[in-house]
Amino acid sequence: MGTSPDSIDNLLHESRRFSPPPEFVENAVATAELYERAAADRLGFWAEQARELHWHTPFSDDRVLDWSNPPFARWFDDGEINVAYNCLDRHVEAGRGDRVALHWEGEPGDSRSLTYAELTAEVKKAANLLAGLGVGQGDRVAIYLPLIPEAVIAMLAVARLGAVHSVVFGGFSAESLRARIDDADAKLVITADGGYRKGKVSPLKPAVDAALALPDADGATGTHTVERVLVVKRGENEIDWTPGRDLWWHEEIATVDAEHIAQAFPAESPLFILYTSGTTGKPKGILHTSGGYLTQAAYTHRTLFDLHPETDVYWSTADVGWITGHSYVVYGPLANGATEVIYEGTPESPHPGRWWEIVEKYKVTILYAAPTAIRTFMKLGRQIPQRFDLSSLRLLGSVGEPINPEAWVWYRDVIGDGITPIVDTWWQTETGAIMISALPGVTILKPGSAQVPVPGISVDVVDEQGVSVGADQGGLLVVTEPWPSMARGIWGDPDRFIDTYWSRFGPTVYFAGDGARRDKDGDIWLLGRVDDVMNVSGHRLSTAEIESSLVANPMVAEAAVVGASDETTGQAVVAFVIIKQSHLEAASAEDAIPQLRKHVADQIGPIARPRDIYLVTELPKTRSGKIMRRLLRDVAEGREVGDTTTLADTTVMQVIATTVR
Ligand code: PRX
Repeated sequence: MGTSPDSIDNLLHESRRFSPPPEFVENAVATAELYERAAADRLGFWAEQARELHWHTPFSDDRVLDWSNPPFARWFDDGEINVAYNCLDRHVEAGRGDRVALHWEGEPGDSRSLTYAELTAEVKKAANLLAGLGVGQGDRVAIYLPLIPEAVIAMLAVARLGAVHSVVFGGFSAESLRARIDDADAKLVITADGGYRKGKVSPLKPAVDAALALPDADGATGTHTVERVLVVKRGENEIDWTPGRDLWWHEEIATVDAEHIAQAFPAESPLFILYTSGTTGKPKGILHTSGGYLTQAAYTHRTLFDLHPETDVYWSTADVGWITGHSYVVYGPLANGATEVIYEGTPESPHPGRWWEIVEKYKVTILYAAPTAIRTFMKLGRQIPQRFDLSSLRLLGSVGEPINPEAWVWYRDVIGDGITPIVDTWWQTETGAIMISALPGVTILKPGSAQVPVPGISVDVVDEQGVSVGADQGGLLVVTEPWPSMARGIWGDPDRFIDTYWSRFGPTVYFAGDGARRDKDGDIWLLGRVDDVMNVSGHRLSTAEIESSLVANPMVAEAAVVGASDETTGQAVVAFVIIKQSHLEAASAEDAIPQLRKHVADQIGPIARPRDIYLVTELPKTRSGKIMRRLLRDVAEGREVGDTTTLADTTVMQVIATTVR
């Protein structure tokens, strides 16, 4: 688990409680009555939420949920919907076309605002452009863009055509991009020349070129499925060009028709695939569909962020390369007609007050960020945010990893002026939308606890046998009833979907992979992953994926990777590596370590770069040959090494511990 026993004790002794301010309660979108309605008629409640959307063909009351073939749920399945129409045309047709949809802020300080009418017009043109390139219902399109308006436009244009996007975070390497292109058989890649990160242009198109030049699994080149590469001009960096394959976005979009009528697609049409790390080396393509996904993304965004779309300015700091960027940058906020900020760059560029400058500039009222960022700001000191006027903020959100009570209280005090409610939202790529969170204006908040399932959601904390644990007991988090935005599968691998999530406690109980504890009031505290998935700065990384990258390096004989607690990033990647004898003489440790760190960053992406690499001569293994990562984590976190009696060779850990200290 990601949280050490000491910090769990600290969490459970946390006794501070915060009631919502009275004026917040008075105007709150959510009311306690939501729980009663959802409990009295769960499916009726979800149908009511779904009917907040526009359905080209309404679904029938008796087709709200089809759970006859678990775990493959079908929601609202005789209904027809167009996701992009719901995020765009609907608002324009209702007279809200002049409302700003996006305030985009580029890292160097350039900016652009688009109203709903303008965003709709852009997406219509982009849909015509993609259709002209042969993109149609069900086709997969890879999107590898910085956080610029075109990222949102491209996603919505793909959705508008009933095609399926696979957004790949711009920080991923050419290898990772290619693996995702191949897995989904993408026919088009939408990218940019480059985007701004940390004060300079970070190239993207060269990675697409490199990805497409890589050999396939059988060693053959030129076998990929990509027909065209559409390139947005952003970084103005020099790039190579493949005539006939590569097209400039701005040139193509200038030639297409401005009108595009959104067609209806079945509610269960695939909307997107998003790859996430699992416990094996191969990332999983999590599949989400249309009607149920949009229902829960919009409903949770409205109620948990207390959205008043006429007056609020909402900002989620996530990149569209992650699930938060899908559900709470693109689909939830735009379905709700929100005005939102999107920011291309990193929090510290060009100065450490950049985020707070943006809050002040756009008078942001709702901010949704990750604990890792909050902890970084805490370290830098309150004098930085205090230089800016943050008085517009009235609600703060947290996502991606457990937020420790100190960071929670700092967030509320320093960023929220000591009054704003905080919603700590637990969910996953697989759940599609928020599952556990306080209801702002209703729940009395406890720093560090995600607290209660969202109305309409049923979760439990169970022991290894699947039996519900009592008060103040720890166990495994499960979801006990299907929910509209649940993943519909792993792309191309239904068995892995069943094995990973739906086999541990039976075919209708979703095993989330997180440890949790229920306190005396029934509130839920998340304790981190119970599997070999790490959480670094709120991003999921797999120990197995980094291990296979390390052993792919010719120097490496064996490798074991663990996630060790880190004050800022939550967990950090720590690798224990055995160098091949033949390379030991050739390379000194000083050379090998930086080379291996770079190797992982090149192969997977900079987020996977190990914080520490220790060169060892053996790894702790059980008699059946399984690496005991628990012991390595003890070493990496500077703790007394735990029980070693099941090791094949009990002296190994002493040797490793001495190497590391
Ligand atoms: O371990 C949990 C952690 O992030 C994992 C999901 O990661 P991902 O699919 O990348 O989605 C992140 C954004 C939703 C979970 O299994 N996690 C997410 N939110 C929280 C959290 N852990 C504790 N508290 C949270 N609020």
